[in-house]
This record gives sequence, structure tokens and C-alpha cells, in this order.
Amino acid sequence: MTTRIGIVGAGAISGAYLSTLPGLANLELKAVADLDPDRVAKVTESRPEVAGLTPDELYAADDVDIVLNLTIPAAHASVAHAAIAGGKHVYGEKPLAATTAEAGAVLSAAADAGLRVGCAPDTVLGTGTQTARSLLDAGEVGAPVAATAFMVTPGHERWHPDPEFYYRPGGGPLLDMGPYYLTSLVTLLGPVRQVVGLTSQPTKTRTIGSGPRAGTEFPVEVPTHVTGVLEHANGVLSTLVMSFDVWAAELPRIEVYGRDGSISVPDPNGFDGPVRIYRGSAGEWADVPARAGFTGASRGFGLADMADAIETGRPHRASGELAYHVLEVMERLLEAGRTRTALEVESTCERPAAVPGGSRPDGTAG
Ligand SMILES: NC(=O)c1ccc[n+]([C@@H]2O[C@H](COP(=O)([O-])OP(=O)(O)OC[C@H]3O[C@@H](n4cnc5c(N)ncnc54)[C@H](O)[C@@H]3O)[C@@H](O)[C@H]2O)c1
Repeated sequence: MTTRIGIVGAGAISGAYLSTLPGLANLELKAVADLDPDRVAKVTESRPEVAGLTPDELYAADDVDIVLNLTIPAAHASVAHAAIAGGKHVYGEKPLAATTAEAGAVLSAAADAGLRVGCAPDTVLGTGTQTARSLLDAGEVGAPVAATAFMVTPGHERWHPDPEFYYRPGGGPLLDMGPYYLTSLVTLLGPVRQVVGLTSQPTKTRTIGSGPRAGTEFPVEVPTHVTGVLEHANGVLSTLVMSFDVWAAELPRIEVYGRDGSISVPDPNGFDGPVRIYRGSAGEWADVPARAGFTGASRGFGLADMADAIETGRPHRASGELAYHVLEVMERLLEAGRTRTALEVESTCERPAAVPGGSRPDGTAG
């Protein structure tokens, strides 16, 4: 059976989903909606079989099972509530909502209605993070003891013509890129129970580097360098640096250290990438061919996994609970930086089921 999808939000990231969806045999795109009718028209011009609707028409549509929420973070919760009120499951782009208070209300409303909530990133279901996870789970580096996660850049104002939102509340390097890194760390090592952190804001203003407003200065309202240590429930310590203040670095993206060796994990903002292992017994790094994770994955595979999970009555992997936990870890880390304290993380989540190698979420051959 195919699950019928309705997209709300036809902006920049919708292109990635529009190109993935036709290749997923268990999904059928039925409708698209946006506050901006021109954006809807752009989609339906090239895809006449897809209905162009207003958001309210889409929430009420009889032929949509899951609303794919691709709106901006500030609208994620209100769109999710409208979808749930219309009797639809909802799968959205990251973050689950702008705050944990909003995100918690979405999860409660869905649970009351017997509906599912799913959330990006699904990058961690690809061969990169999943191959690293399979090495860890097989005990190939022994019991894990620590991990590192680094994301550093000089800032998006060099290339983005309207970069102010990255430097306002809700922006900053952690909330922008943290969902990828933290979802990967939780996939690898399980949930987080405590955080310590410090943050800084080395500059009070930034300057737009491209587009018609190049040269314009704007204020920085949030920390742009975030460091912290996450203590996972299993005692493993992950050290995190997320920064918009670093010109260049030779840091890895993610590494996991075990009693018997180390694993180099590729960029969690992608689905694949090189995985390497250092076995203490061998004394050198070795490449590891992809051995787990969805084959040929791209944005939308988490949605297909959720559709299959609803169909077969199992938990879906890119779950609302996981996204809520990741959002709470980010909130607590920023609060720990502000208050200079160690803070407990109240929520937890199950590690999602591992993804077997050579598989696809729509049941077709990998
Ligand atoms: N752009 C990227 O490269 C990228 C990458 C990964 C994830 N994301 C995530 O995807 C989401 C969307 O980002 P984007 O870059 O596509 O944004 P965008 O601003 O390009 O598009 C968002 C669209 O949502 C519409 N919209 C906003 N509120 C709405 C509402 N209440 N009802 C209906 N439509 C509404 C807007 O009109 C707009 O067309 C964000 O959560 C972002 O974090 C974006």
C-alpha cells in the first residue's frame, strides 16, 4: 500500500524532497501547500498530478495520510497541530519545534489522537552513521568511552544574502547544525543525561558578504561559539564544539573512542561518506566499506521509514521522541552556558533500531 503525502512549505528544502519522493515506492505525493501561492504554482507546473492547495485545504484533505512539514522552525508547531487536528500523521524538518515547550505539546496532541510524529534529520539512517554504529554495536572498538563532535565555520553571512536569522534567537551554530551532530551521537551512543557548557560571542556585529545588501552590518544577538560536554546515560562523554567563529580547522566531524580502538564517523549532514577504524591491535587506520544503512539515501528516507512503520506496526526511526530529546539537549546546553552550571536533561529516548545494510525503507531491493 502507498502512503499519501501532502507537503506544507514549498521553500528551499522542498526541492530535495520533491526529487526523492518519486523514487520511494511506498509514498505518493498528492498535494502541496504554502502561504505563498506562487511557490505552490511552481511545484504544480512541473508536477500536474499534484494538487496545489491552501494549507487549510491540505489539512482537511481526505487523500493525505502524512503531512510533510517543510516550513520554517517558527511555524513547525502550529503546522503540526493543524495537521494532527485534521487527523494526519506529521513528519517535519528539523528542529521539531522552536522550543521544547512547543515540541512537547505537539507530541502530546499526536499521542492523544493516536497519530505519529516524525522529524528530520534522517541523514543518520544512511550508510555513514549506520556503518559506524554497526562497528560499535559489534564491539569492534570495545566499550565506548568518549566521543568528539566538531562543526566550525566562519559564518553563513559570507555567502547567504539574508543571514540575519542565523544570529537571532533560534539561530546560532548549535540550533542550526546541532540536530545533525546530536542525532548522530544519540544514534551511536544513546541518550544524554547531563550537560555542561560554555558559550561566547566574540563579535557584536557581522557584515553581509554577498547579494544586494553586501557590506551591511547587522547585530549578533546569540552566542556564536558553543562548547560543551554531554554525559550519555551509559556514562560516555561527548565533547562538542559548534562555532561560527573559526576560519579553518583540521578537526574531524565526529570520532568515537572505545577501549580497543577508535572510529571516524563522516559528516552527519550527509547520508554517506568514509568510515574509518583504528584497531589498537593493528596500530593503523583502515577504511571500512559501507556495511549498514539505507542504500542511496537522501532527504525523505526517514519519512518512508515512518510510512512503513505505520503500515507494519513498528516504531519509526526518525521519531518525535528522538527529536524532542535532541532539542532538549541543545536547550540545556545553551542554558548551561548562560548559567555556568551542569544541567540534567529530563527527557530520554530509545536508540532507534539499526538499519540493515543493503536495505531501503520502501521495501524495494537496496
Ligand atoms: N534550506 C536548507 O538547505 C535546509 C537544509 C536542511 C534543513 N532545512 C530545514 O527546512 C526547513 C525549511 O527551510 P527552507 O530553507 O526550505 O525555508 P524557506 O524559507 O525557503 O521555505 C519555507 C516555506 O514555508 C512556508 N511557510 C512558512 N510558514 C508557513 C505556514 N504557517 N504554513 C504554510 N507555509 C508556510 C514559506 O512561505 C516558505 O515557502 C527549516 O526547518 C530548515 O531548518 C533547510
